[in-house]
Amino acid sequence: MLRSKITGTGSALPEKILTNSDLERMVDTSDEWITTRTGIKQRRIAAEGQFTSTFAVEASRSALAMAGVKAEELDLIILGTVTPDFPFPSTACIVQHEIGAVNAAAFDLSAACSGFIYGLSIADKYIRCGDAKKVLVIGAEVLSRVVDWTDRNTCILFGDGSGAAVVEASQGDCGILSTHIFSNGSYWDTLYQPGCGNRNPATSEQTIAERLFYIKMEGNDVFKHAVRAMEEAACTALSANGMTPADVSLLIPHQANRRIIDATAKRLGITEEDRVVINLHNYGNTSSASIPISLDEANRSGRMKTGDIVLLDAFGGGFTYGSALIRC
Ligand code: COA
Repeated sequence: MLRSKITGTGSALPEKILTNSDLERMVDTSDEWITTRTGIKQRRIAAEGQFTSTFAVEASRSALAMAGVKAEELDLIILGTVTPDFPFPSTACIVQHEIGAVNAAAFDLSAACSGFIYGLSIADKYIRCGDAKKVLVIGAEVLSRVVDWTDRNTCILFGDGSGAAVVEASQGDCGILSTHIFSNGSYWDTLYQPGCGNRNPATSEQTIAERLFYIKMEGNDVFKHAVRAMEEAACTALSANGMTPADVSLLIPHQANRRIIDATAKRLGITEEDRVVINLHNYGNTSSASIPISLDEANRSGRMKTGDIVLLDAFGGGFTYGSALIRC
């Protein structure tokens, strides 16, 4: 059976670390509050001269090296991001140029924290229908430049980085079993960046006066919806494949908040620590990069063995949510 299979993963993070103690000196917060409410201890922050494409390129090169695929063999590059280098051209085109993927079509995809799962879903469909053989899927963000560093409700949550995966056509039982993507646009203004699109242009006085270029979020609403949506996405993937949570070797959830991850895992009955990938204490919420960074870390540390069932589960602004079930 023709399937798509992840044959290489990579990730890239800025060197600069911003700890909770550093944040204590910037806003009225404490390490204790951030740790108990979110589980986050530190996050990585891009330096001057580093952009979303900087990390996307590094993660992509690493994923291509692991897969043993040359950039010119790629048919498609899909890059999930809400913090592109420019409104246009796409950051995917910049990555294409930098890595030398001269035969690929390249585009960005806006699905916030679900961007990587959305991209994986498109890659899977292109491969299964025979229109592509090798696809590079990337999640990359520099959220630190759209975070209001005077707003303690949001600035404690986010970080920068990128993860990437090479997805290839493959025959057999292993690979991506299914992907499922969902949206609920009724909540589009619950988590968003009001300024810098054409409703509130970057140049308008209102955008500047009301600080509309920064992320705005109703944290409690997001929290409640995230847990329900991630459970729904996970259960859809399992039932589509005649499986139950007991079949899952490893859950790789979007890394937004430790309490969201714990609540989702508890609802699914996947409570053992070694069955859930958690790294948000190190990186915070890196939006579309969070799942591919986690996937790469799990892959490189030997947590994904042949035959294992891995469940990717995402939620983000839009709202968007989605899942992917993989047999390693
Ligand atoms: N430090 C200290 N106190 C803070 C704070 C901070 N960084 N941020 C908020 N507070 C205060 C609030 O002002 C509030 O004070 P009050 O009771 O005097 O009004 C109190 O802490 C409780 O705030 P609340 O918003 O109810 O806290 P919470 O338990 O809901 O946690 C979030 C807040 C943001 C951590 C939580 O709602 C969350 O994680 N939501 C999801 C966000 C998310 O994941 N977004 C991305 C999704 S992809």
